[in-house]
Amino acid sequence: MDRGPDSPKPRARWGTRLGFVLAASGSAVGLGNIWKFPYITGEYGGGAFVLVYLGCILLIGLPLMYSELIIGRRGGKDVLGALRALTRHRGPGGRILSVLTGTLAVGSGFFILSYYSVVAGWAIHFLVVSLGITSRSPDGAEATFLALVGSSALSVLWHSVFMLLVIGVVARGVHEGIEFLCSRLMPALVGILLLLLVYVGLTGGLALSVEFLFRPDFSKLSGEAILEALGHAFFTLSLGMGAMVTYGSYLKRDTYVVRDGVTVAVLDTVIALLAGMVIFSVVFAAGMEPGAGPGLVFVTLPDLFLDMPGGTLFGVAFFFLLLFAAWSSGLSLLEVVVAYFVDEHGFSRTAASWLFGALIWGLGLGSAVSGDFMDFFDNLTTRYMLPLGGLIIAVIAGWLLRPADREAGFLSLGDAGTPLARAWTLIIRFVTPILVLVVLLAKMGILDRLGFLRTGG
Ligand code: PFF
Repeated sequence: MDRGPDSPKPRARWGTRLGFVLAASGSAVGLGNIWKFPYITGEYGGGAFVLVYLGCILLIGLPLMYSELIIGRRGGKDVLGALRALTRHRGPGGRILSVLTGTLAVGSGFFILSYYSVVAGWAIHFLVVSLGITSRSPDGAEATFLALVGSSALSVLWHSVFMLLVIGVVARGVHEGIEFLCSRLMPALVGILLLLLVYVGLTGGLALSVEFLFRPDFSKLSGEAILEALGHAFFTLSLGMGAMVTYGSYLKRDTYVVRDGVTVAVLDTVIALLAGMVIFSVVFAAGMEPGAGPGLVFVTLPDLFLDMPGGTLFGVAFFFLLLFAAWSSGLSLLEVVVAYFVDEHGFSRTAASWLFGALIWGLGLGSAVSGDFMDFFDNLTTRYMLPLGGLIIAVIAGWLLRPADREAGFLSLGDAGTPLARAWTLIIRFVTPILVLVVLLAKMGILDRLGFLRTGG
């Protein structure tokens, strides 16, 4: 399979269009949907936050999703290579910008996967506990969680298992590994989620949960909540670090980038909302408060499962859901790094997967043993690196690409394509970059200092 750099081999491709949509949805749907979205929605008060989040998906998520996919498809290479190919006509400036953005993107993949894998490892631990393979702490889920986080050995163990799961699949290839797995994981994930939904529909709490998520109370909306919603739009759709560029580069020329991008964004959003409905149903049925924070899934829920009829099974299904979501996202994080070293530096896929997978695993050891270390990389990437990457990608897509490259994806839409292309150009040139810049400045505390917004964090 793997040949040296001297014998150029045909570039990897998705087997089918559906396979690509499932892989890209697999990247988007992850811990961000099932762990983070529910807890931030809980913290920021529900409906109004959800509405702002939906607006961010529309104004930032969708335009950037299209930009990344079209850059990948037209550029036909890893994130740096695709950007360089499409900005070549801009001379040295385009080249420098491509190298900067590409390096930032690959760095983001590296850093995010290092701590993402540790949190995914927690999901494996809770799955194992739910299955009864390891005994749960008699003092409840909080004690189980604290024992896990407090035990370097356990955290490192599950982090290692997760990284092996990711590396093994990426090393097999785009079609044989990533597409093959996502084509199975994604339907399973949706199936589990729907079963859980039916279950909470029967056992109670669903009506309260729906009301919490969909009835906006704008008095609860803070500047901080808006910033969080903007930042989360990047993370949840896997934008700002070239994951969609890389996945887009394995598409055939005639692919319907616009429709597929919309499908991925809609699926991601629907799954986040459904996960929120399931989780808050359990929380409300037990008479608990929704604002438990990051511990919602690992501390609050497992205890509540125990009190539900058939709760063990529910718990097992839930943690399978979390693991499947994390696994398919982890693949894309590593793929960005691997594609870069394969395309730019002539590595074989197998060597790049194992070598860089091992380095990421090594960096992740820090997050496995220290919460502060994890918070540092989480903040660095989600607050700064992804928005910065997204900002530059928006500027490149809107201002630097040739019109033929820029608008290629809309051609397949026929008559509807032209007005849509115009709307997209307007948004990606002005709206998206300005909104992202505001988030970036706010997260850096600069707006705070100027007295515009109280962000608190
Ligand atoms: N979208 C993933 C989630 O919501 O958990 C996280 C992620 C995956 C971010 C891949 C970025 C990325 F490139």
